[in-house]
Amino acid sequence: MSNQPELNKYKQEIADLYSSRSQTYDNSDWHLQIARRLVEYGGVSLGHQVLDIATGTGHVAIAAAQIVGSEGRVVGIDIATGMLDRARNKAQELNLKNTEFMLADAEALDFPVNSCDRIFCASAFIWMSDLHAALTHWHKFLKPGGILGIQAFADTAFVGGIVTQKVAKKYGISFKMSQPTGTVEKCRSLLEQAGFEDVEIKIDRDGSYISLEKAKAMWAGSSHPAPGQYPPPLSTLSTEQLAQAKAEFDTEIEALQTERGVWNDITTFYVFGRK
Ligand SMILES: C[S@@+](CC[C@H](N)C(=O)[O-])C[C@H]1O[C@@H](n2cnc3c(N)ncnc32)[C@H](O)[C@@H]1O
Repeated sequence: MSNQPELNKYKQEIADLYSSRSQTYDNSDWHLQIARRLVEYGGVSLGHQVLDIATGTGHVAIAAAQIVGSEGRVVGIDIATGMLDRARNKAQELNLKNTEFMLADAEALDFPVNSCDRIFCASAFIWMSDLHAALTHWHKFLKPGGILGIQAFADTAFVGGIVTQKVAKKYGISFKMSQPTGTVEKCRSLLEQAGFEDVEIKIDRDGSYISLEKAKAMWAGSSHPAPGQYPPPLSTLSTEQLAQAKAEFDTEIEALQTERGVWNDITTFYVFGRK
């Protein structure tokens, strides 16, 4: 298994971001609901060996641990020590003896081959530097017949991201965000190209109206790590350009405001493939 992972600058910034968020991450139950749905759709059973990739505060791992029982085992891995500390505390409070959390980079994970009945990755897949290589790597850890379940967002999701992409384009800057997993076809192709069979995708068409203030706070900025891209795309802009781009972003967001607020699509894909 893994020791202390060596993280490049991109991954260290992600780890620092999530460790700094770890104390407040569970304040909203939004990620928890997604994680529980992934586990439910993934058909976890008594006795299963489960790997939760980028476990964060352990939402998927804990949901799975409560199903697999004492014959089963769940391992959650993440690069953010703060998130792992939260996960360990929660598992301890629930007296879960079948769960372990480890510090490890999902893309360099050393794990027994053919050992998992289920591998999950919720709200984290687009953070991987190389999606195809990550899936191919994880495929090895599944038992034959085992199932991988990935949760991803559609390319229509998150109004702040969509408008950031639009504004950044005017400056010649391209943001990936949820584009690599943004459609059912892209998700299917990613899994099939990594050797998964019987790919099934559940679509959850969700969204809500959010306040103008909240929508404006979704601006990507120049220091926040961007999924799959390093350095953060907007870091190439000068201070003046950045201020100008942010002003354009605010104007675009204001134009989307209705009496009920700003519509924030969060269409979600639950993608499953069998080894
Ligand atoms: C939005 S959180 C999702 C956490 C959890 N899966 C959930 O459903 O709440 C994203 C997590 O991905 C982790 N992460 C990002 N890249 C990673 C990598 N290469 N290896 C392991 N964890 C990673 C982050 O540290 C963070 O905890």
